[in-house]
Amino acid sequence: MKIFIDSGDINEIKEANSMGILDGVTTNPSLIAKTGRDFKTVAKEILHEVKGPVSLETVSLNAKGMIDEGHFLADLGPNVVVKIPSTTEGLKAIKQLTSEGLQTNCTLCFSSNQALLIAKAGSTIVSPFVGRLDDISERGMDLIRDCVQIYKNYGYKTEVLVASIRNPIHVKEASLCGAHICTIPFAVIKQLMQHPLTDAGIDKFLKDWEKVPSKPF
Ligand code: E4P
Repeated sequence: MKIFIDSGDINEIKEANSMGILDGVTTNPSLIAKTGRDFKTVAKEILHEVKGPVSLETVSLNAKGMIDEGHFLADLGPNVVVKIPSTTEGLKAIKQLTSEGLQTNCTLCFSSNQALLIAKAGSTIVSPFVGRLDDISERGMDLIRDCVQIYKNYGYKTEVLVASIRNPIHVKEASLCGAHICTIPFAVIKQLMQHPLTDAGIDKFLKDWEKVPSKPF
């Protein structure tokens, strides 16, 4: 499973990238607003740091606007993936941008029927949001399982990106479902490597190391 970071914070992105586990980045208008910085500067910094796919989101509600914004975003770097919302206008924009050879990520997907049409329109990526479904008492991970199965049934090339991740269990379940990509907030990325037995083990080894009479380090 490819690991993306869900962030607009360049320091978080650099830190995650230095761990050697980062395949790409997703951003959205809320994450960019959180930085309090100019959009183009932030986007350029991210695109310079990460060579893998970087999703940047359109904000128009109609296909023409999405396509125009998609062209602007794609000009920022060769690894830009244009993020488009899961609407009928979004499908039109995806069809057009895909025909021009641009990469698209269809976001805010909340149903398997949306995911079916998104794949038919030719999107590179679909982003079903698990956390926001869990928030309204629906099992978000069921949607991931359905998307993976539907795409397998018909051989669609669209990759399933698990979005709206809230905790390490979401990541484990995403990988068990066979999702292609998981985009994870930095706080959760750090949690993935935490284990109390690892900490206790290190502590014990360090204490015992102190007892070794002659040491090279
Ligand atoms: C995905 O690309 C979105 O940016 C993100 O995962 C949304 O997550 P949220 O529901 O925590 O805002």
